[in-house]
Amino acid sequence: MQFPEYRARRLRKNENFQRLIRETSLSVDDLVYPLFAVPGKNFKKPILSMPGQFQLSVDNIGREAQKARELGIPAVLLFGIPAEKDEMATGAFAKDGIVQQAVKRIKNEVPDILVITDVCLCEYTSHGHCGMLEKDCVQNDTTLEVLAETAVSLARAGADMVAPSAMMDGQVAAIREALDENSFEDTPIMAYAAKYESSFYGPFREAAESAPQFGDRKTYQMDPANADEAIREIALDVGEGADIIMVKPALAYLDVIYRAKQEFDLPLAAYNVSGEYSMIKAAASLGWLDEEKAMVESLTAIKRAGADIIITYWAKEVAKLLNK
Ligand code: PBG
Repeated sequence: MQFPEYRARRLRKNENFQRLIRETSLSVDDLVYPLFAVPGKNFKKPILSMPGQFQLSVDNIGREAQKARELGIPAVLLFGIPAEKDEMATGAFAKDGIVQQAVKRIKNEVPDILVITDVCLCEYTSHGHCGMLEKDCVQNDTTLEVLAETAVSLARAGADMVAPSAMMDGQVAAIREALDENSFEDTPIMAYAAKYESSFYGPFREAAESAPQFGDRKTYQMDPANADEAIREIALDVGEGADIIMVKPALAYLDVIYRAKQEFDLPLAAYNVSGEYSMIKAAASLGWLDEEKAMVESLTAIKRAGADIIITYWAKEVAKLLNK
């Protein structure tokens, strides 16, 4: 095909042509909406680094899940900020832990929205690392036990799916085994399989009050320079029993999403993380770009790269747009 026989502009002439040949479209069906649960009653505190997002007490989380359901969003993803943090991350697996309470509340009030729970320890440890420490070093195998106990506790509270994000080796297998032993063989695992050590988590760490108190997460999260390693990481999680695999962050890792989609035939999720959201919010607030257009463009790119599921703080906004 060559100019002048082929003229690409013929099919761009007007919006109807554009619609007819559009290859990728967003759907409300693909969206997961992250929420942050905190102790208290009727509490709703704006997260300054993530305009439009809030820390919510359990009663307000129920209401927010209801709004999401009304917009047709199929699932929420819960994070929690406990009243107290300790070395052992006790709040992560406590029977009346903050996320356990939030799960129960949502399942009672909005039974037909899926409740997915993040399974990690950084929000619950006093030091802010994702696992148990020994001599300032995150211990893999002792952490596995705590992650497994946390997953079972969340399933017991009613979680529809658990999403381990601690990047410990063997975490999917440990969680699968523990769930099965406790009769939760039907509870699926969405594995944060390729999770990078990313600066784009910055705003989230304010939201979840989970910044590491010393050092960084480079000994467990992946080096942004690596893509072959992501494929190895994902293959491990698939082998350990992941039902859904995830690449995180999304926008700076579209190549990884693309490769994961080509190589694995499991449903693929991508996490449009806090920094990817906040930088567009910030630029838009200065009038430097159009938020709605930048949002649709970002999410469409993630889908075009191969994601089946998109976890995004824009879930409600994009659902409103798609429902119009
Ligand atoms: C927990 C976790 C993090 C995010 C999701 N789960 C933070 C981190 O790893 O430091 C980040 C999500 C976001 O930035 O939106 N480990």
